[in-house]
Amino acid sequence: MSQLVFAAKVTHIPRMVLSELPGPLHGCRADAIEGLEQIGQRVRASGATSVVILDTHWLSNAAYHVNGGATFRGKLTSSEFPTQLTDFEYDHCGNPSLADALAAKATERGVPTISHHNDSLGLEYGTLVPMHFMKLGRDIKVVSVSGWCAYSTIEESRRVGAAFREAIEAGREKVAIVASGSFSHRIHDNAVVFEKPYEISDEFYRQCDLRAMELWQTARWKEFTAMLPTYAKACYGEGWMHDTAMLLAALGWDRYEGRAEMVTPYFVASGTGQANVVLPPN
Ligand SMILES: [Fe+2]
Repeated sequence: MSQLVFAAKVTHIPRMVLSELPGPLHGCRADAIEGLEQIGQRVRASGATSVVILDTHWLSNAAYHVNGGATFRGKLTSSEFPTQLTDFEYDHCGNPSLADALAAKATERGVPTISHHNDSLGLEYGTLVPMHFMKLGRDIKVVSVSGWCAYSTIEESRRVGAAFREAIEAGREKVAIVASGSFSHRIHDNAVVFEKPYEISDEFYRQCDLRAMELWQTARWKEFTAMLPTYAKACYGEGWMHDTAMLLAALGWDRYEGRAEMVTPYFVASGTGQANVVLPPN
């Protein structure tokens, strides 16, 4: 029986935080929040005791990194969106031994990956926002992975994701993997970004995203994995979609047979393409 018990690709748009608060934007992203809550419930129901989050907000310019911290507690004001994510409170447990196992296996498979045990290495909001809305608190441990790999190839991320699966299967713990990032990610030009929160920045990106969704829902992974390197670049995929490459590799890459389940159907946020999608491991 597989130790990888759950997998998903999710959104982390900061407007969900505003949607929760009283004010003019209250409820504006209720659909995305509801999807993440449902995914959190399903993580719990799967029996997972840890979740690995492939975080497209953790930028790496060299190597792959895994946060092996034991505990994460504090408040975050995002440097990217300080008005949207302000004093955002979090309190989570890490899983140092799982982080070490993931990094060791990826390194063994030829891609240098480092597990860090440093109290001052925090979590990015690509990890914190989904953890908040999945309501996993301190019950399910979290291991965050750098998923914005500026100078890596999709092939390297494929190898890392496959190695993560190996490490998970070699362990005794049930684990969920969550890729945190959008599909196309061309945010609007600055001059108009606040006027168009629900419009795509270019129809080309939406059409590519919709085609990708179709391939995911019909399990056409051969085609999708073949198009991923070009799609990620042409549509400014968030983090160049290294989260997606690692996730799909953990699921079997082009041999994966699962069909995507759209928990929150495709939606547009500030020019980008988003969804909450469950991908059953096989
Ligand atoms: Fe993001």
